[in-house]
Amino acid sequence: MLELPGLIDPHVHLREPGATHKEDFGSGTAAALAGGFTAVLAMPNTDPPLTTQDSLDAAITLASRKAVCDFAIFLGAGEDNIQSATDLAQRVCGMKMYLDQTYGPLRLQQLGSIADHVQRWPKDNPIAAHSEGMSLAAILLIGALYDKHVHICHVSLREEILLIKAAKEKGYRVTCEVTPHHLFLTEDDQPHIGEGRAEVRPRLAAKKDRDALWENLEVIDCFASDHAPHTLDEKDSKNPPPGFPGLETALALLFGAVNDGRLTMDGLIARMYTNPQRIFGIRNQEQTRVEFDPDVRWEVKGADLQSRCKWSPFEGFNLKGKVRRVTLRGRLVFEDGVILAPAGFGVNLV
Ligand code: NCD
Ligand code: ZN
Ligand code: ZN
Ligand code: ZN
Repeated sequence: MLELPGLIDPHVHLREPGATHKEDFGSGTAAALAGGFTAVLAMPNTDPPLTTQDSLDAAITLASRKAVCDFAIFLGAGEDNIQSATDLAQRVCGMKMYLDQTYGPLRLQQLGSIADHVQRWPKDNPIAAHSEGMSLAAILLIGALYDKHVHICHVSLREEILLIKAAKEKGYRVTCEVTPHHLFLTEDDQPHIGEGRAEVRPRLAAKKDRDALWENLEVIDCFASDHAPHTLDEKDSKNPPPGFPGLETALALLFGAVNDGRLTMDGLIARMYTNPQRIFGIRNQEQTRVEFDPDVRWEVKGADLQSRCKWSPFEGFNLKGKVRRVTLRGRLVFEDGVILAPAGFGVNLV
């Protein structure tokens, strides 16, 4: 048995409030524990989006009542909260900015709004950005001009990871994360996954992009699942929303890379625990550990997942290594597929 620290996933969508048929704080944090995560950082593209004190209060209250693992929440950057965002900075793990079209209406499109948000946001609190292609160049420059910490979400392309590498070499205060799906899947997997189900932002990319992520592993600070559940009915509909669930497959996929010699165990722990904890100022969880059996082989089956969405883009993958037990703050909260923590055991780590 391997003993790991409680892992931290810096990018999850728990869909509450507004879309609890996809996931809620209970089911999403259950999926986290099953995947070896004891803390999840929740995204603000909910309905309503988390851009105001009231919506943030409501989300924190719901999470405190329902979560079975610990959590922190991102504030959304909207056109409506340029003045008020900084007042809420102490209550969140960062501000999230959507600079491109993805799921939900939360998005910033005016250069002036982006610059104002970045200029006003406190220096010690990260700004996480969904920024693909040219928006990546924009947020890197704006962050550097105002000397703010910018964290780039789900990097997927060769030219993006190379730009981030160059920014780091210049001394920019930039960090980044990559998802397991961009490390293990490419556009060639789309037909197999199914057209609607394979919709995700950023899109699955070319082999050269996937390979560039592996070749620039030292530039990648965190692995993030970008757990973005939608139901199968929605994914198989005429208008499929983008997003993959990922909390329950991330660790075994990345552990496979350790077995393959492409990643070290220390490198895995750095990107799934130490770095997310440092980057987002997450409080230490005492007496917390994950017992992981490196020898168990299992097949990914959507129907077996804790996530309410009950499907996976990795359906049918044969993975090696499974979470057996999770102890969170001294209490056994997960054992062999069973959630043992009561609803509301999770606490806010900000
Ligand atoms: C995410 C979602 O569904 O909320 N979808 C996705 O494809 N990644 C939004 C996002 O993370 O961009
Ligand atoms: Zn995104
Ligand atoms: Zn996301
Ligand atoms: Zn392998």
